[in-house]
Amino acid sequence: MKKLVLALLLALAVPAAPQTQPQTAADPWWKHAVIYEIYPRSFQDSNGDGMGDLNGITSRLDYLKNLGIDAIWITPFYPSPQIDYGYDIADYKAIDPEYGTMADFDRLVSEAKKRNIRVLLDFVMNHTSDQNAWFKESRSSKANPKRDWYVWRDGKNGGPPNNWLSWFGGPAWTLDPKTNQYYYHYFYAEQPDLNWRNPEVKKAMFDVIRFWLDRGAAGFRIDAVSRLYEDPNLHDDPILPGRNAYGDPNIEHKYTDNLPEVHDTLRELRALVDTYAGNPVLISEADQPNIAELTKMYGAKLDEIQLPMDFQIADVNQLSAAKFRKLLDEVEHNSAGGQPHYFFSNHDQPRQWDRYGDGKNNDQIAKLMAALLLMPRATPQMYYGEELGMRTTPPARVEDVKDPIGKKGWPEEKGRDGERTPMQWDSSKNAGFSTAAKTWLWIPPTFSTYNVTAESKDPNSILNFYKRLIALRRSNPAIRDGNYVSVNQDDANVLSFLRKGEGESVLVALNMSGQAQSVKFDLAAQGVKQPRARVLLAAPASPTDSVALNDVTIPAFGVVIATVK
Ligand code: GLC
Ligand code: CA
Repeated sequence: MKKLVLALLLALAVPAAPQTQPQTAADPWWKHAVIYEIYPRSFQDSNGDGMGDLNGITSRLDYLKNLGIDAIWITPFYPSPQIDYGYDIADYKAIDPEYGTMADFDRLVSEAKKRNIRVLLDFVMNHTSDQNAWFKESRSSKANPKRDWYVWRDGKNGGPPNNWLSWFGGPAWTLDPKTNQYYYHYFYAEQPDLNWRNPEVKKAMFDVIRFWLDRGAAGFRIDAVSRLYEDPNLHDDPILPGRNAYGDPNIEHKYTDNLPEVHDTLRELRALVDTYAGNPVLISEADQPNIAELTKMYGAKLDEIQLPMDFQIADVNQLSAAKFRKLLDEVEHNSAGGQPHYFFSNHDQPRQWDRYGDGKNNDQIAKLMAALLLMPRATPQMYYGEELGMRTTPPARVEDVKDPIGKKGWPEEKGRDGERTPMQWDSSKNAGFSTAAKTWLWIPPTFSTYNVTAESKDPNSILNFYKRLIALRRSNPAIRDGNYVSVNQDDANVLSFLRKGEGESVLVALNMSGQAQSVKFDLAAQGVKQPRARVLLAAPASPTDSVALNDVTIPAFGVVIATVK
């Protein structure tokens, strides 16, 4: 009996991923990494105040290691009035006491290093908090030396200087009575935009980069990077039809988004990080409108951002083989040597479980999305809890809303609290996230079954499927290094592609429909000679070890990953 239990346990256990492979400048670590976004307020609370913190993250590094994560991106933990939960930074070179101390940060980096996990920080370069000492000085008088660090203008006809609107509702200009001028803010009024045309701003912000690289950061995710520059002539933006959730007219942010100057700054920033050893990486939050703008983020000589986040693919918002195929192919044919960077969920948008689920088969669809994220030629970025099938749990009442845009836009825009709820570790009180009487955001009711402890024991869990996929990325040379070749391009239901290796290739087939599909593959043109493929991984599990390429049956929303020769 004991033996049987042991055998069963062994069968259930998914092996931990092997150590990270060595890197070279031509083949840097970030090309093969799985990056995991942590919203520190919601990952793990270590001191019982209901909010996550740096020590909490450190205490969970073994979990991340076991999952196969190579790098964590931690959203801002710097001193902040927390109007935008950390994206309003009052001091760029310190830790907010809510999250811990500098010693805690150093310990997190060194403990992560022991586990081969790199730590990436969030670099908010477009704007600061209005409580930042720089802004306090800037607003104090027109003659202050830091006046020009921000964008100040006189009003026009008794109102703001032009019609620019904030992404978060209302005018992008706020009148400061002290000097009777307006300052510009793409986001909340508490987040004044820095003036990147001022060389002192660049100097101060590049100094921030050095500070954290010196402390062991392995790179940065750059916030809102396309918004760094504004048209100096303050042209009005074009008004579009309709209104948004805040009651403002829709607008094209033509004169405040993607100005060419952004790229000059990114080139300089890249040159700076390249002076550090270890291939530090720059990731951009670039919700670029099309492939051309996305490609520009790499730089004409691949001398800007290494990993621009691809929002086109993240936000297809529909299980459409044709749409994903088209976008994946576009990336393959346009990125000119740049490394694609895919993700689906993050702290700003509803989780993928809800956005791609059909309401009935969401757990299976979560596995399908995991394979879509982890199997193409790209660096994948995950969001904490997606590996559990965590779902979006928006506030039930306006009184519960924390994110200011949810208060402003209620009920049409409920804000981003729903995707920021605490990580679900186990089925105990507060899902094992905190011992506090009340956590800063509610715990979704699904925590009792969708949690790390329960899913670790279930061989068919979403969590174990992620682990297997990540382990495959490391162990299989074609998945690690192979090209991406789209196959069966006319199939409206099944998205199929090859990861083409030397000798062996891997076929990935993703059924995006709610019906089983029988698919025929003729891969002779791809050099495949053998009629059968050996199944590496499938969800639902494949009844056989191999399949005939001329007749592969894939269950509804199923995934088949198989070696072909
Ligand atoms: C980015 C962040 C978002 C924040 C905004 C303003 O989009 O991801 O959370 O509100 O920038 O800093
Ligand atoms: Ca805490």
